[in-house]
Amino acid sequence: MPLKRKDLLGIEPLSVEEINLILNTAKAFKEVSTRDVKKVPTLRGKTIINLFFEPSTRTRTSFEIAGKRLSADILNISASTSSVVKGETLVDTARNLEAMYPDIIIIRHSRAGAPHLLANICRASVINAGDGAHEHPTQALLDAFTIKEYKKQIKGLKVAIIGDILHSRVARSNIHLLTKLGAEVRIAGPATYIPVEIEKLGVKVYHHIDAAFEGCDVVMMLRIQRERQDKSYLPSLREYFNLFGLTPERLRRATKDVIIMHPGPLNRGVEISSEAADGPYSVILEQVTNGVAVRMAVLYLLMGGKYEEVVS
Ligand code: CP
Repeated sequence: MPLKRKDLLGIEPLSVEEINLILNTAKAFKEVSTRDVKKVPTLRGKTIINLFFEPSTRTRTSFEIAGKRLSADILNISASTSSVVKGETLVDTARNLEAMYPDIIIIRHSRAGAPHLLANICRASVINAGDGAHEHPTQALLDAFTIKEYKKQIKGLKVAIIGDILHSRVARSNIHLLTKLGAEVRIAGPATYIPVEIEKLGVKVYHHIDAAFEGCDVVMMLRIQRERQDKSYLPSLREYFNLFGLTPERLRRATKDVIIMHPGPLNRGVEISSEAADGPYSVILEQVTNGVAVRMAVLYLLMGGKYEEVVS
């Protein structure tokens, strides 16, 4: 079965079947990264542009490695070294890149909707690598892939997402994905970080972390997105850690095989202690590993690849 979409702009528009197709295809691709020669010829001759207007370590590198493992030609453009600094608009940048016939443009931008704008004007497939506080679809897909590896299925799991929900595209994409797949999603954080009417997305809101952790199978900690805040939402970072920071002691209310997740980058001592981040329940680096397989699957499927041909 192919993915019948030109672009991957968010989790919200995806069906459960499409999500499962991506996750199953990623499972088939994961093994490629363990080979001595970590390369398959699947996307030979395809050109991919990584267009990042915001900083990134994991997502940009992961897409680059994914593209290279599929034998595509992939190049990176960051806003600071492009003609954006000379005043070129996003639309003009996209039209000029498009004139060089790329097959896929991966974009990260501070404005929600920037990937959608590109998708409307570009013949190339567009992948959203994070748009403002809106969505980060491949992060949610790699998170779901990791949860399935540890818990086998997502339906029925209790997942607590803790922290700055208001500014987090990771939270939004995960809420869409996890509720579609039947998890009970709990969110907790300071009242200033909980979006108004978030319950309409099918989540339960908690204002105390201990209550959110009760019987929880998965804990997902979020960084405070200071780059998206023009005012102070918190009295102090110390108080934030005392109330909402993850420590091993706090996990006692969760299930005994709880997993700790974090999309990175970590702010140790703010939303998570080093003991929790580096301890036995943490799957944070496994998330990073799985990001490559998930992004290989997304690139492959958007180029018309079929799941059956990866597994055969
Ligand atoms: N998780 C994530 O998006 O990390 P980067 O900002 O490093 O890409």
